[in-house]
Amino acid sequence: MRAVILISGRGSNMQALLEAGLPVEFACVISNRPDAAGLRVATELGVPVAVVDHRQHPDRVGFDAALAAEIDRHRPDLVILAGFMRVLTEDFVRRYARRMINIHPALLPAFPGLDTHARALAAGVRLHGCTVHFVTPEVDAGPIIVQAAVPVRADDTPQTLAARVLRQEHRIFPLAVRWLAEGRVQLREDGTTLVSGADGDAEHRALVSPAD
Ligand code: GRF
Repeated sequence: MRAVILISGRGSNMQALLEAGLPVEFACVISNRPDAAGLRVATELGVPVAVVDHRQHPDRVGFDAALAAEIDRHRPDLVILAGFMRVLTEDFVRRYARRMINIHPALLPAFPGLDTHARALAAGVRLHGCTVHFVTPEVDAGPIIVQAAVPVRADDTPQTLAARVLRQEHRIFPLAVRWLAEGRVQLREDGTTLVSGADGDAEHRALVSPAD
């Protein structure tokens, strides 16, 4: 499997993917921001990088066309959004239908969008977490591949909660990509996914409430 990773900033999820020993050829890391810290990390890990700067394009359609051209140069089987902070046009999403995934720092369908940790605290939820899902035109709404839950503590701040969730992001993102590379993720007509394989169920169960 060939994959490209799209980032906008720090790139810790990207790093977790690159260091996980996955059966995946990471052809390129692409950022929409030239100053994204993750670009340097990718270079240090020997992965080619590219920048498609959204500020160089007057509108979303132009930016998405430039981004698609860069992605397609690498002929990826999988496009991985790892902290990629741009809303994509419907045409772009359809172009990569069934082969583009995203990580979201909440237990979808709860808390799509931004500021998920502060919103989870404000809502008083006792469980929070993260989700890896296929990307569909509706933001943060595509078929769920894997989730991890963490407890919310009484003294949590958005920062402490974010850190607890991020540790789980770094576990489940490589896991999801591994399942995809192994051809174990079936996307069903009803908009859900099924992960096959002997250990699929056990892995799912283990992620419902990790002790952390
Ligand atoms: C992560 O929390 C991710 O879920 C969200 O943005 C953050 C990116 O962090 N979409 P990093 O760049 O992977 O370190």
